[in-house]
Amino acid sequence: MELIKEAIKAREKAYVPYSNFKVGAAILLKDGQVIHGANIENASYGLSNCAERSVLFSFYSQGYQKEDIKAMAVVGDTEEPISPCGACRQVMNELLPKETPIYLANLKGKQKKTLVTELLPYSFNKIEL
Ligand code: THU
Repeated sequence: MELIKEAIKAREKAYVPYSNFKVGAAILLKDGQVIHGANIENASYGLSNCAERSVLFSFYSQGYQKEDIKAMAVVGDTEEPISPCGACRQVMNELLPKETPIYLANLKGKQKKTLVTELLPYSFNKIEL
């Protein structure tokens, strides 16, 4: 699948001197453009940013909006399709449309299609505020 290939390309841009675990993410826009994101680590480990948040922050920083998103893919060198961390699930819940297909994959060709509502059921969101 083309978007997973894009996430694999994005993965090569990871900055991971501490974990050496590269993750790539890609967002497909409705107009066909693709935005890349990768995990970016820090010597102060807790400041590291996952690929999922990198791609979403990059997407919004470039001036695009939720409605422009068609799909998202995430790839890591895992046994099973990569599973986004809890922090990323919360950010994805805020910034992705509920109906956006999310393709989780590994490098061996295993993939899983999911939705943010499956990744984070019973979420805290702005309706609560
Ligand atoms: N990481 C991601 O970028 N995405 C995930 O879905 C799982 C974990 C990153 C965080 C850290 O840089 C490295 O992978 C090891 O946890």
